[in-house]
Amino acid sequence: MSATPDKPDRYAVIGHPIDHSRSPVIHQLFARQTGENITYEAIDAPREGFEIAVRGFRAAGGKGLNITVPHKRAAFALCEELGTEAAQAGAVNTISFRADGRLRGDNTDGIGFIRDLTENLEQPIEGRSVLVLGAGGAARGILPPLLAAEPAVLVLANRTIERAEAMLTELGSPPDLEASSFEALQGHKPFDVIVNATSAGLRGEQPPFPPSCIGSDSVCYDLAYSLKDTPFVQWARAHHALKAAQGWGMLVEQAAESFWIWRGVRPDTQPILAQLRR
Ligand code: ATR
Repeated sequence: MSATPDKPDRYAVIGHPIDHSRSPVIHQLFARQTGENITYEAIDAPREGFEIAVRGFRAAGGKGLNITVPHKRAAFALCEELGTEAAQAGAVNTISFRADGRLRGDNTDGIGFIRDLTENLEQPIEGRSVLVLGAGGAARGILPPLLAAEPAVLVLANRTIERAEAMLTELGSPPDLEASSFEALQGHKPFDVIVNATSAGLRGEQPPFPPSCIGSDSVCYDLAYSLKDTPFVQWARAHHALKAAQGWGMLVEQAAESFWIWRGVRPDTQPILAQLRR
């Protein structure tokens, strides 16, 4: 899979905005670690310029793309061939340009999340009660792999209950998945695992999650990440959660899975995570 030494293979992440993306740094660290000869850049493309940006990158000899907010659904619509996780999530975060010109779409977000939670943080899902807060694109990506990990209970709670219900229907109404409003969780016993998939923290907001759903044995995971504690992590700590993590590990793990899809080489994520934390 290696390129000739003098001509690196080109990869990039496309999003809007894109200045804060850590993907270029992560993939460059992967390349250094594995000796793969690649370049990885960041491309800013607004919604209306997404398809042109993808096709332009391919025409310029690009090999693959990561897709981030707000283009994951558009990427799903654009790809001619889909991996199982992308088809389930209805969203694509990894595009590979096939030799025959076809666009292959994968979604590594769910795998990255599960790997961080179960392997890096050593939190099993099987047989445990899990609460997912939020019913947007981020939640959609993690629900199928969460269900596959066989929790005892999986509750999807959203400010707008109709959106949570619609997502259940989209996922084929699996028997182990329940929809709820935040209010209806009032008085619920604490969950083992609570995942924040709302975008509230990006604006510094903390939704009114009922305190009864969190206890001293709860493990809290924020899909968002920030250099300081996110509002959700602050909430978890204020309620004495057993553990409160944010999505740095998921970010690195989903990137490693994309790297594997493109290069057939799996980077060791631990030193990269340690380096990013520093
Ligand atoms: P993403 O792709 O990041 O998931 P999204 O599809 O726009 O973005 O979804 C955002 C999610 O965050 C939704 O579940 C949204 O709740 P609504 O469906 O009720 O809009 C949730 N969200 C955003 N801001 C919120 C806030 N201040 N309080 C509670 N939920 C919030």
